[in-house]
Amino acid sequence: MTIQEIRENYWLLAGKHYAYTLALSDTGNLINPYWGQVLPSQNDYPKPAIFTAASSFDSEYEIMPEEFPLREKMKFTDPCLLVNFENGTRDTAFAFTNAQISQNRLVILLTDPAQHFEISLNYQIYEDEDTIKKWVVLKNNGTQTIHFDRIFSANITLPHPAEYSLTHLYGQWNHEFNKETSKIPYGKLVLESRRLTSSHQHSPAILLHPPETNEYYGRSYFCILGWSGNWKISVEKNSFGLTRAAVGINDFDFYWPLAPGAEFTTPPVYSGVAQHGFHEVSRRLHTLVRSHLVPHPTLDKKVLYNSWEATQFDVTITGQKKLAQIAAEIGVELFVLDDGWFSGRHSDQAGLGDWWPDQAKFPNGLKELSDWVQALGMDFGLWIEPEMVNPDSDLYRQHPNWILHYPDRQRTLARNQSILDLTNPQVQAYLHEYLTKVITETGVDFIKWDMNRNISEAGISANGNHSAKQVWVQYTHSVYRLWDQLRQRFPHIIFQTCSGGGGRSDYGMLTRADQVWISDNTDPTERLSIQEGFSLFYPASVMESWVTDSGAAVQDLDYRFLVSMMGVLGIGADISRWNEQQKQTARTWIERYKQLRPIIQHGTQYRLLSARDAGYAAVQYLDSLKQQGVIFYVRSTASQTASPPVIFPQGLDENAQYTLSDIDEQRSGVAWQQLGFRYALPRNYSGQMFTIRRI
Ligand code: DGJ
Repeated sequence: MTIQEIRENYWLLAGKHYAYTLALSDTGNLINPYWGQVLPSQNDYPKPAIFTAASSFDSEYEIMPEEFPLREKMKFTDPCLLVNFENGTRDTAFAFTNAQISQNRLVILLTDPAQHFEISLNYQIYEDEDTIKKWVVLKNNGTQTIHFDRIFSANITLPHPAEYSLTHLYGQWNHEFNKETSKIPYGKLVLESRRLTSSHQHSPAILLHPPETNEYYGRSYFCILGWSGNWKISVEKNSFGLTRAAVGINDFDFYWPLAPGAEFTTPPVYSGVAQHGFHEVSRRLHTLVRSHLVPHPTLDKKVLYNSWEATQFDVTITGQKKLAQIAAEIGVELFVLDDGWFSGRHSDQAGLGDWWPDQAKFPNGLKELSDWVQALGMDFGLWIEPEMVNPDSDLYRQHPNWILHYPDRQRTLARNQSILDLTNPQVQAYLHEYLTKVITETGVDFIKWDMNRNISEAGISANGNHSAKQVWVQYTHSVYRLWDQLRQRFPHIIFQTCSGGGGRSDYGMLTRADQVWISDNTDPTERLSIQEGFSLFYPASVMESWVTDSGAAVQDLDYRFLVSMMGVLGIGADISRWNEQQKQTARTWIERYKQLRPIIQHGTQYRLLSARDAGYAAVQYLDSLKQQGVIFYVRSTASQTASPPVIFPQGLDENAQYTLSDIDEQRSGVAWQQLGFRYALPRNYSGQMFTIRRI
């Protein structure tokens, strides 16, 4: 049993190594008395402490690890809900009502009888990954609407007042997933997106840890929100030194009315604790995503070719056929036609919304190309950007008000496009019809779903009143709905999420998409640190990485392949310009990638040398039986005089013997891990791949 009631109103949520407890205190508060390693005996789990106020200015709640803090009594921390009842009351008064455990799920029901309002706190545990999924369902059992200005999914409280740091990922377009660690000050620190997507700027995911925690040592708590729209994480350290994080849909410009009888379900939060550094967090989250979130968990991701960087909008049937021919010759398994294929799309000025093949470019439709690609033994993939419309399109000319806008405000274009109001059922129906048609007529195996701008004028097309503040949530639900309808209609299709690169990479998307385009930046050296940051919360099996012409003037083709082989290998270069030698190099690496793919995509990843340090990077992958592995080692921008770093392999069976290709030695696992090895790379932008074999 992973979830059990071990004493009256005391619940233990235990994974393989870590446990979390919930208890109803004598004062009727739902608190979290313990969060840490699984303890040997159930008696070890502490009783709820008695909390007392320090003064008439500070209530006992300042030091109480409340599970879901609300606005009531003398509570000054960020509440998880901001509620307005029709009678003017804005406090809640919830009482524990019951708890139910069924299968691997705990539901704790709290009710506010005066307002006929109930909250169920839901918990599920992923035992192997030691991760708790939490979400909340609100229900209005009364006869009057309840109005919300905030609905968060969860709160986490760190066990002891102490000094903690926050590690998270920040970035911007073309420069995503930069890891930053900062000390949590007294006060509040807010991370958020107000951009309609989860955004390039911050990932809805944090680590909270003692300042000394690093890759392989130290404790770390993690908390990730599964939501693809506006979100907020508010980390608060109060004057007693207690640190909390409240997580959920952003309350900026948020409003949600809950009509009598209605329910609202929050997006989930995934949280847990690790004892052995950031690596342990990543290892567990990688498995969580691969085994429990993505639609096709066991899939080996295909080596793809994407023609975007080669042709941009200059798409022709002849040009694409030629690229496909070469792609097949070098071993590519999936050919993706990117932007530029649909009606009127000759630049980014026009066409979005008109989802049928451009007559001049594809006089016989797209089927001619997909047949060609499939006859070459490859799958066929197609780029779409369903949420957008160019003013220069048939769709816009017919329905200029189908976009998010305010009737009395100028419409702001970005990349010459507007955002369709997906909350409008007519828009949903239109997109569903046209996308279904093109997918069916073409025979599509893979879809790249892009989204190339952030929000402006967040008004709903149908009603421009106060309830328009629902647009943020309704829009995300609508994106999910369309996505889910297409997935249901075409279960064999593999989806990729993209928003101008990594602008919508989140756990909400990863329950729908198997792959992520993490950045438009395909310079291999810059990509090293983008990939490294991404790996903190997301596995290599979802991370597409292409070898392109970016950086080709000075960065070896071998080096570019080694960087891209760290994820799901793809090619995006103009291969029609490659000479025989380049094609042979590609063929060889693609072949080797296919052999190693099960280890890279399904094995354990170890960050050995950080790309942010001394101009070198090394990443290791090891299969689950610790029999075979691979280390990608590259020298990017090291100084001429620097001596090569020592690389310490990780995760090997200590007593087993291993060899590393190109290092002429056999050693025990523990010896490799303790001694490490050095390998001199001759120049910048070169690299080496070592295969690890157990003897
Ligand atoms: C942005 C994506 O990230 C690129 O890969 C490409 O698909 C372009 N959009 C096409 O417009």
